[in-house]
Amino acid sequence: MSDVHIHKVPKAVADHAHINKEVYEAEYQRSIEDTKGFWDEKAREFLTWSKPWDVTVEHDFPKGEVKWFTGGKLNVSVNCLDRHLETRGDQPAIIWESDDPAVDKTYTYKELHAEVCRFANGLKAEGVKKGDRVCIYMPMVAEAAIAMLACARIGAVHLVVFGGFSPDALKDRLLDSEAAVIIVADESVRGGKAVPLKANADQALKSCPSVKSVVVVQRTGGSIDWTDGRDVWYHDLLENASDDCPAEEMDSEDPLFILYTSGSTGKPKGVLHTTGGYLLHAAVSHKYVFDYHDGDVYWCTADVGWVTGHTYIVYGPLANGAQTLMFEGVPTYPDASRFWKVVEKHKVNIFYTAPTAIRALMAKGDDYVKTCDLSSLRVLGSVGEPINPEAWEWYHKVIGGGRCPIVDTWWQTETGGILMTPLPGATDLKAGSAMQPFFGIEFGLVDNEGNEVTGNPAEGILVIKKPWPGMFRTLFGDHQRYIDAYFANYPGMYFPGDGARRDKDGDYWITGRVDDVINVSGHRMGTAEVESALVLHPAVAEAAVIGYPHDIKGQGIYTFVTLMDGVEATDELRQELVNHVRKEIGPIASPDVIQWAPGLPKTRSGKIMRRILRKISENLIDELGDTSTLADPSVVDDLIANRPSQ
Ligand code: WT7
Repeated sequence: MSDVHIHKVPKAVADHAHINKEVYEAEYQRSIEDTKGFWDEKAREFLTWSKPWDVTVEHDFPKGEVKWFTGGKLNVSVNCLDRHLETRGDQPAIIWESDDPAVDKTYTYKELHAEVCRFANGLKAEGVKKGDRVCIYMPMVAEAAIAMLACARIGAVHLVVFGGFSPDALKDRLLDSEAAVIIVADESVRGGKAVPLKANADQALKSCPSVKSVVVVQRTGGSIDWTDGRDVWYHDLLENASDDCPAEEMDSEDPLFILYTSGSTGKPKGVLHTTGGYLLHAAVSHKYVFDYHDGDVYWCTADVGWVTGHTYIVYGPLANGAQTLMFEGVPTYPDASRFWKVVEKHKVNIFYTAPTAIRALMAKGDDYVKTCDLSSLRVLGSVGEPINPEAWEWYHKVIGGGRCPIVDTWWQTETGGILMTPLPGATDLKAGSAMQPFFGIEFGLVDNEGNEVTGNPAEGILVIKKPWPGMFRTLFGDHQRYIDAYFANYPGMYFPGDGARRDKDGDYWITGRVDDVINVSGHRMGTAEVESALVLHPAVAEAAVIGYPHDIKGQGIYTFVTLMDGVEATDELRQELVNHVRKEIGPIASPDVIQWAPGLPKTRSGKIMRRILRKISENLIDELGDTSTLADPSVVDDLIANRPSQ
């Protein structure tokens, strides 16, 4: 790719940065050659331990065993709060910006510490003990972060469920984790509209016997149903609780949280992260990747329902004593200037968002940006999916004024933190490339047979050769699936599920998933999950779901649906199926296209040929390839003839 423009690191950025090119090269080398020495040093520098560790890292990938800082003791909430009180107790910790542009609220480290301690005592009063699972089903309010930290303080394991998930999706996660408590808001507010979270929880809880109490945060004061003896107000719990709550001393390998994510089967995976390694990776990557300096205002626009919110709104920034902004609303309310108004209002220095948001705002035109003062910005970030060069250049020029580096960060729920990224002061940038490995990460590319593809340029399946501190330790309740899905395909290596290309300079370009997972607006979704939801509908006999290129969402959801005999294919039914999927999973899973398919292209052994469906969805009819091995090649002609207009 000789035509790729290289954006050199501006000298002002390199001079100011924690890590410049020379430091990156030397430290990266050291992190690979002396992994133990590198992470020992970082663990002492970044975290406070109540007892030092005995062994830095142990692993056996084929058995699915990974341990970091064995024998070490610490508490995450102490690291995120208590140890900052003396030096920055009165500094903002969380800056909360409401959906309503006129409302915001700041919590200093002292205030946040006090509220976390009180709520931790409140949870104890509800009977929560170390190791219990606590579900957090909340809007983007500070109480969501407070709840996470309160769990961490008493050793409870939180599972945050994105507030956009349906009652059914919530129920599946509560059942799988056997949660004892759920923390919920009466309603969430986004773009001026209320969503009935408590009512959703009530519905899910009809079939979740493990949940004994429901803590309700009053966000809107909207009317809700109340179950005496089970439901309790958050503010009542706080009122009766002391702000003295000694932290539970946790083992480095004790679980910190579970976060459900999509895999290539219908059942979501409970990704489990532990304490010491995760927090270290979060803190180190937050400081270096975003070049965070004391006093900076840092804003990650993710939702706490996703891993980005866990690592880069809550744990990484707070471990570093940062000022982290939490935004409740949406980028287009009251209008498409909202993000930029928030940057101006809070003088944001570091801004981290997703390509889908950038594309959506780019489409609204530059006028929404020009009216805002963005001169506080210093570093921009991107996460969730590959960023197309056009969106990258707009982000760089129009938002960053040409002076702010963009860190395109590649990682996953499973990895806990960023693994591939440029560093602002060290890496020359190429629009659309996540560039280089983070400290301690050794990537490889392999072919379908698992043989390493060496040299540059090269293309293949991305693998990781060594453990890193933030990696997940198991899938909750299903360790065999952990081994099978991530360590069995390429023995001795971790398989993330992505393909990648390494260019002639050795810089990486992620090419997308190589499994049946799609990425819609940065939200990860299993095609099998959407298919399972569709076939639950009585009119549907069979369904095949694929991702297709979508201008704003990155990938859209294209579904091929075979109806039961005698069911008429109407536009009303189409709408009904869209609503049905929204109800089963949530609005993020809304099919963009439903094509009626009298038959699906299958091999003689009955396997659906997704490759062919993908070509049909993209209207690449000339590239269908050999269809003669299909059980019934004529179904393809029908699908081509009846493509709906999009
Ligand atoms: C999948 C992980 C990491 C937090 C948000 C998503 C894709 C993520 C990038 C990027 C290209 C990316 C990958 C990955 N992805 N970041 N910068 N460039 N692709 O976490 O829901 O676990 O999804 O998102 O395909 O496997 P997730």
